[in-house]
Amino acid sequence: MEHQIKSFDEYLETYKKSVEDPEGFWGEIASSFQWKKKWDKVLDWNFSEPNINWFVGGKLNITENCLDRHLQTRGDKVAILWEPNDPKESSISITYKELHARVSKFANVLKSYGVEKGDRVCLYMPMVPELAIAVLATARIGAIHSVVFAGFSANSLADRINDSSCKILLTADGSYRGSKQIDLKAIADEALATCPSIEKSIVLKRTGNAVEMKDGRDVWWSDSLASAAADCLATEMDSEDELFILYTSGSTGKPKGVVHTCGGYMVYTAYSFSNVFQYQEEDIYWCTADIGWITGHSYIIYGPLLAGATTMMFEGVPTWPDAGRFWEICDKHKVNQFYTAPTAIRALMAKGLEFVSPYKLDSIKVLGSVGEPINEEAWQWYHKHIGKEKCPVVDTWWQTETGGIMISAIPNVTKLKPTYASLPLPGIQPCLVDKEGVKIMENDREGLLCVEFPWPSMIRTTYGDHQRCKNVYFSSFENMYFTGDGARRDENGFYRIIGRVDDVINVSGHRMGTAEVENAINQHSAVVESAVVGYPHDIKGQGIYAYIIASGDVTDLAAFEKEIKATVNKEIGPIAKPDKIQVVPGLPKTRSGKIMRRILRKIASKDVSNLGDVSTLLDPGVVEIIKKGAGLA
Ligand code: WT7
Repeated sequence: MEHQIKSFDEYLETYKKSVEDPEGFWGEIASSFQWKKKWDKVLDWNFSEPNINWFVGGKLNITENCLDRHLQTRGDKVAILWEPNDPKESSISITYKELHARVSKFANVLKSYGVEKGDRVCLYMPMVPELAIAVLATARIGAIHSVVFAGFSANSLADRINDSSCKILLTADGSYRGSKQIDLKAIADEALATCPSIEKSIVLKRTGNAVEMKDGRDVWWSDSLASAAADCLATEMDSEDELFILYTSGSTGKPKGVVHTCGGYMVYTAYSFSNVFQYQEEDIYWCTADIGWITGHSYIIYGPLLAGATTMMFEGVPTWPDAGRFWEICDKHKVNQFYTAPTAIRALMAKGLEFVSPYKLDSIKVLGSVGEPINEEAWQWYHKHIGKEKCPVVDTWWQTETGGIMISAIPNVTKLKPTYASLPLPGIQPCLVDKEGVKIMENDREGLLCVEFPWPSMIRTTYGDHQRCKNVYFSSFENMYFTGDGARRDENGFYRIIGRVDDVINVSGHRMGTAEVENAINQHSAVVESAVVGYPHDIKGQGIYAYIIASGDVTDLAAFEKEIKATVNKEIGPIAKPDKIQVVPGLPKTRSGKIMRRILRKIASKDVSNLGDVSTLLDPGVVEIIKKGAGLA
């Protein structure tokens, strides 16, 4: 594989070049792609606006690079290998040739419904091949995809559709998640009642559930394909034209639409995929993420397909029919690279080795972890019982905003250190700063993690609100992209990600704003005010702890909790449901009205030995009452 680093010396040399001559470095890597017109300049940027342009003036279509470019050499190679929820159903293999044909055809469907370059298309779908096909079809005609994770509620879906006024919604009658069925179409219908921009909804039949089809708006996927032409020329895109929007949570109540563009995203996802997984031509690669998250975008669809890989998509869940499902699939398809989240590893670890021991797992060469810090115990279990102590475990740190993996070991090239994401990939220039923004030069120190030079797949803007992008990422420290994470750099320059320093929590690898969950809780008519914090959770990494001031007496606590959970479920989705709810008479607020979350976090994590100075609180007495209510006094 081209541009794949093979030794530590080569890593050092490559890294050095990437910093000393970024334009030369990225220009060379970009040259291996198919451009309709070559760029005039590799990079033009400032972090103050910010205004970031990679491969300036270059013209391309990313799907030509994912599909057409491989037809000569890999036409009959499997591009997408799909494993269904139910192990009794057959898996499906789609070759590059077939994928090219199906993407082209669906692209023509979108065109026939009036989708044009720059239009937004929302996808709210199960993990089936049609989701990947539709993502690529959208990109093929230069429209912008906005995939919304199919676990989000109708309200969340509607907010996302409306924020970027999507023209089309692609959805399904239902989806399978283990033993459960989810009625996607009904949720979509509820959302669309408040989405005036949607002109058409194309509905895939997956579960065969009876659904209501709205006249003039809804059409069946299969019917829409019937008259579609087979060939579809790829629309010429500028490097900096928008490729997709992906909504993610921040410290305010409203999720933001992170925007990625065509050229840089293409170059970086392919380069990082090839290096972090050391993919070889015959390998079967599997990332267990959902395409509704950035991991699925970059490392199920784009990175692997750009590299001409066989990428597996899994519809189901790790624990159904039993906790051996992942390992059964690894053996069944002879998976070579396996990429999952710490929360899944911990959940399976807790089920015991009897779910692992029936399987050989001898095809695996590389194991990956993503989404949250991986604790030492989970790392060791993964390494020992899944990797049989012969597969490197790469802990990959990155974000929706970074588009691709930023800090990670390279298997058999750089050293592994459990709980450390380790070293930056070539082209990535991380640094630590202190609270005043002073750069920390020494090693063996902790600080706030920033990036001081652009990389090709970085966020360009937040959809419809560029000022927000500037404020959130580029205003904390001058001339730096601020990640929101705290990190430690050891004596050898290895990075360990400690966690978020803002009001963002990470629950089972799902990112959530505490304000967002509070907004949802506050929708309940008996809630006066709420404060949400994260606390350490054995399986989820972080759990959600909600302190709630209720109007009137809560006599039936269990019923109240149930209602609160149902409210959050309706407002956001099941992933945001609080794990613990405590009814409190007041919240620890400063005189200026700011909630001191530090105190609430300590109580939630049962660590009240040192609550710090509470004298600045408006009502210091409330702290004792909350402690007592939590059973800690
Ligand atoms: C946040 C980004 C990147 C894909 C999935 C999450 C945390 C991510 C790691 C890791 C420690 C990690 C950070 C980051 N995070 N990977 N390897 N070690 N923390 O994407 O939803 O945008 O969340 O996830 O806190 O800021 P995301």
